[in-house]
Amino acid sequence: MKKIGILFGMENTYPHAFIDRVNEITKRKDIVAEMVQIGRVEQAVDTEYDVIIDRISQDVPFYRAYLKNAALCGTAVINNPFWWSADEKFFNNCLAVKLGIPVPKTMLLPSKERPTDTSETSFRNLKFPMEWNEMFSTIGFPAYMKPHDGGGWKSVYKVTGESDLWEKHEETGQLVMMLQEEIIFTDYYRCYCLDGKEVLIMPYDPLKPIHLRYATEPKTTGPAHKKLMELIKKHVLDLNQALGYDFNTVEFAIRDGIPYAIDFCNPAPDADVYSVGQENFEWVVEKSARMAIAKAKSNKPGVNNCTWGTFMQSSITKSDILKLRQ
Ligand SMILES: Nc1ncnc2c1ncn2[C@@H]1O[C@H](COP(=O)(O)OP(=O)(O)O)[C@@H](O)[C@H]1O
Ligand SMILES: [Mg+2]
Repeated sequence: MKKIGILFGMENTYPHAFIDRVNEITKRKDIVAEMVQIGRVEQAVDTEYDVIIDRISQDVPFYRAYLKNAALCGTAVINNPFWWSADEKFFNNCLAVKLGIPVPKTMLLPSKERPTDTSETSFRNLKFPMEWNEMFSTIGFPAYMKPHDGGGWKSVYKVTGESDLWEKHEETGQLVMMLQEEIIFTDYYRCYCLDGKEVLIMPYDPLKPIHLRYATEPKTTGPAHKKLMELIKKHVLDLNQALGYDFNTVEFAIRDGIPYAIDFCNPAPDADVYSVGQENFEWVVEKSARMAIAKAKSNKPGVNNCTWGTFMQSSITKSDILKLRQ
């Protein structure tokens, strides 16, 4: 009997629907799904799971360490805990540029406060002053300032000018922030990507209250809309195949018909029926159940069964990029 587990925190709808869907499909004959149960975590000792869907280890370091050991022992962990530990938004933007996917112009800012247990000498490699004028004139104002490794709209600021930026930067403590060009968009989309091949493009209005964000219609229609959807799908696949995420969302802001990737480091993306709506929920439950079953079937005992993106397999080369674009 193969086992699929799901690790989760305060979510109430998706995990149970996922478990039920897997068990309905497999009829619990040769594959069964359940909530992950942890009684003991011992080094290099196998877990009982062929596949684990991870929805929470970003907030619980104990689980992240448990998952790395599970991956070492052969569990296909969705998403790869090693890569997720290394990844952050600034790097994702850098990779997008190399892949030829439009992203807002972005700069990385040193944190307001020095990290704990460091001294002034720890920042001595920074030029004094740094090239602020060049940075600000490249990005322009208004701009967005947000953590390079964040999520859930925490510490996301819109800054109107230099003095506003410094005032807001005061509040950011030890967070490493990015300064990003504002994309004034006509449409916005949020896209699920599963298994590096399934894409669901959802119109999304980030300016509405949370419960209404998915209740929106795109403004473009007809052939232009169709072309845009094809382009978005291609960008979503390119990004996720390069990053190696099995389960992720990518957000795009559309300006002058060009989709700019805004936020694509969401490896435990919101999948609550009450926010994404019944139709999108059904899609994500079904596709993720099918993905987990396929991974359980193809799991080879004792080897690393996690997904490694093309970037991790070899540093990305021009020929990889060309292959991705085909
Ligand atoms: N460069 C940008 N241009 C326009 N809007 C942005 C930009 N960056 C962020 N936003 C707005 O802020 C929201 C939150 O930022 P995002 O990068 O998605 O952070 P989080 O990972 O916390 O969700 C986005 O959904 C979008 O509405
Ligand atoms: Mg976001």
